[in-house]
Amino acid sequence: PTIKFVQADGTTHQVNVPVGASLMQAAMENMVSGIEAECGGSGSCATCHCYLDKAWSDKIESPDDNEAQLLEMVIEPNEFSRLSCQVKVQEEHHGLIVRLPVSQY
Ligand code: FES
Repeated sequence: PTIKFVQADGTTHQVNVPVGASLMQAAMENMVSGIEAECGGSGSCATCHCYLDKAWSDKIESPDDNEAQLLEMVIEPNEFSRLSCQVKVQEEHHGLIVRLPVSQY
């Protein structure tokens, strides 16, 4: 599936992502800046915050309890906030738009 990342400065990256990869991995592997991912994707650092496009937010499984808790620690969360390491790309996510925050800290 193709995922479009939009950095905080407006730079966009359209990338092909294998099914099963996380949004965090997809961003890191394609030089999308705006994600730190200090814990390497284990869902414990909250430095991989992103925003799902509004049109997609209800088509993607909601955060589990651990992720929901960590999302309380991120800078400027909103109802579309996710930890990008916890969202695994599926075939039906083709065309998903993901926005990155100005900062992870
Ligand atoms: Fe650490 Fe996502 S990379 S919580």
